Amino acid sequence: MQQVQAVIARAKDAPVEIVTINVPDPGPGEAVVAIQACGVCHTDLHYRQGGINDEFPFLLGHEAAGVVESVGEGVTEVAPGDFVVLNWRAVCGECRACKRGEQQYCFNTANATQKMTLEDGTELTPALGIGAFADKTLVAAGQCTKVDPSARPAAVGLLGCGIMAGIGAAINTGGATRGKSVAVIGCGGVGVAAIAGAALAGSSPIIAVDIDAKKLETAKKLGATHTVDSSQVDPVEAIREIASKTYPGAEGADIVIEAVGRPETWKQAFYARDLAGTVVLVGVPTPEMTVPEIPLLDVFGRGGSLKSSWYGDCLPSRDFPMLVDLYQQGRLDLDAFVTEEISINDIEAAFERMHHGDVLRSVVVL
Ligand code: APR
Ligand code: ZN
Ligand code: ZN
Repeated sequence: MQQVQAVIARAKDAPVEIVTINVPDPGPGEAVVAIQACGVCHTDLHYRQGGINDEFPFLLGHEAAGVVESVGEGVTEVAPGDFVVLNWRAVCGECRACKRGEQQYCFNTANATQKMTLEDGTELTPALGIGAFADKTLVAAGQCTKVDPSARPAAVGLLGCGIMAGIGAAINTGGATRGKSVAVIGCGGVGVAAIAGAALAGSSPIIAVDIDAKKLETAKKLGATHTVDSSQVDPVEAIREIASKTYPGAEGADIVIEAVGRPETWKQAFYARDLAGTVVLVGVPTPEMTVPEIPLLDVFGRGGSLKSSWYGDCLPSRDFPMLVDLYQQGRLDLDAFVTEEISINDIEAAFERMHHGDVLRSVVVL
């Protein structure tokens, strides 16, 4: 066991606190990772607000990179000294999805079995089974993916959640390729990552839609070929017009990615796709939201598919090393997502800036 500094949310809506926590030595199948950088994500704020569950106190932080310090018995995936990106999809290998070879749909994901605790012994709940706003954290070894150790931790740690969700929504779920048009509604961190994914896949045109003109500027930097300010024009009409210029006769984009998580923008995505096109929902809705009313005949008549994308349908062991290599080669601009590097003392202020839409990602450097 060792003691380290960490950021916790002790109670609903209470400001975060920096405290000393106990990190156990890794048991069978576990690893202790010295964290170097960890992004601030909406999900951390949702935990602090009590919107996910009430298993307080939470150990926050989950978009992280660091170096493996020690491993428990039977661990073969990683070894001490490995530079890793953490993930919340350590697949079980036992469920139906795993057995049929579709581990990207494993929902039975593994975490460390031992608990990290406060000094008084109170057990902590790590955010998404990670808890990386801490000098060190305990995870399941399968939550660690070894990547190129010369990569910048603040940039590649972001692959652990929102950025992977966006890139994967375009490539893994949407099936973006050369010869297809892609529209992305909502250009926050996730949407802009979907644009970067579509660009990596060679899709064109790539149409960025947002109600905030600043977001559209960032979207252009990451590969959007066209932008639509949906506070000014009807995005469905605009997407159709742009897509049909490249592909005459197209009634929308081949793939429309909804990265806001709201019924009205999902409805726009539904009508902005070409016949037989694909809609991907990657924005996270709240529990009270429902599918907007759409004539069933429109669902039938337009064909194609309506999908959701959970963690970008990623497989960390396949996708993280590949994306880190593309970053290192200058083909994927992960640095563009790092708006600021901050210290562990600045997390509340970063939540505030995120809430106001001022940043793509604040990254805590440890
Ligand atoms: N039409 C178009 N864009 C919109 C609309 C709308 N009606 N409403 C909001 N947006 C834009 C915002 O301007 C912002 O650029 O959607 C974007 C949302 O981005 P972020 O708040 O930065 O969220 P992000 O991290 O990208 O996550 C996207 O998934 O994780 C969830 O809670 C998160 O629901 C959010 C979604
Ligand atoms: Zn499984
Ligand atoms: Zn996240």
